[in-house]
Amino acid sequence: MTKIGVLGATGLLGTATINHLIEQGVTPADIVGFYRNENKTAGLKQLGLTLRYGDYSQPSFNSDTLAGIDRLLFISSSEEDNLVRLQEHLRVVNAAKQAGVSYIAYTGMAFPNDTSMPMGNVHLATEYMIKASGINFTMMRNSFYTEVILSPEEVQFEVKTGKIFSNTNGVKLNFVARDDYAKANAKVLTTPGYEGRTLELGSNHPYTFADIASDLSSVSGHPIELVEEPAEQIERDLTALGDKNALFFYQLHAGYQDGWGAHISNDLADLIGENNITTPKQTIQDYLK
Ligand SMILES: NC(=O)c1ccc[n+]([C@@H]2O[C@H](COP(=O)([O-])OP(=O)(O)OC[C@H]3O[C@@H](n4cnc5c(N)ncnc54)[C@H](OP(=O)(O)O)[C@@H]3O)[C@@H](O)[C@H]2O)c1
Repeated sequence: MTKIGVLGATGLLGTATINHLIEQGVTPADIVGFYRNENKTAGLKQLGLTLRYGDYSQPSFNSDTLAGIDRLLFISSSEEDNLVRLQEHLRVVNAAKQAGVSYIAYTGMAFPNDTSMPMGNVHLATEYMIKASGINFTMMRNSFYTEVILSPEEVQFEVKTGKIFSNTNGVKLNFVARDDYAKANAKVLTTPGYEGRTLELGSNHPYTFADIASDLSSVSGHPIELVEEPAEQIERDLTALGDKNALFFYQLHAGYQDGWGAHISNDLADLIGENNITTPKQTIQDYLK
């Protein structure tokens, strides 16, 4: 039987992908989940899949690590230093090539040529590594997860304070729920026909923060005011409101001002079905249940 390997299996996207693979009928024994921290594997052990150690940052990640894997979900490393991240990615591609992995689905970044965020280059370079290796592939170019732009803590905070801050200058943004990406991963790993394709997995309906403020107001039943201002002012306002930690997320917004998040694509809708795409409003409803 085809062995499907899932790197980053202990992470949110990896675990969700494994759940969708099993839901789609893949036998757990045909899934190999890779971890770097055994303490995080308890939930995966219960699913009955094979678990294998594999840390991209270690030279010990080699062809033995990926031996026997046919189709591999390569979840990008979470290393912050871009050059180290690239070295880790090269190690994965090299190990896959040596191990005879026949297919890689790589979770990169949507519209990487159209962003001023440096991580676009990391993902593009990784795509080229995979192409240069000769291994068949699907590039699963991800937008930012809704849960990252709009975390549960942030939403609770916004409902409590009646304010949502943005420094996006009113540009449209792609909000895609992480679980939608997990479904998409499971689909390409189990369905022939996506080989050689580069999928721009943004949503086909980007939203502004004014839309999000309106969703927050209607779901919570309280008016939520949108405050558009520079990151430094947001920092001062958040500090005054008692939550400086949220600043990190607002700094991310600046990366959207070049319009990167406004690019649309039907690739995700084609993969998982238009009606299955989770809207930000549904995510907010989930958080506030
Ligand atoms: N599209 C977005 O909005 C977005 C946002 C954040 C991150 N990302 C990227 O998408 C990936 C998946 O996101 P996620 O939400 O599932 O993140 P996550 O929950 O942090 O999971 C990342 C997974 O990758 C594993 N991992 C990271 N670096 C590794 C390495 N050097 N060697 C082996 N395993 C490694 C982690 O292992 P541990 O469990 O041991 O940490 C974890 O299993 C992230 O790694 C990051 O590259 C995307």
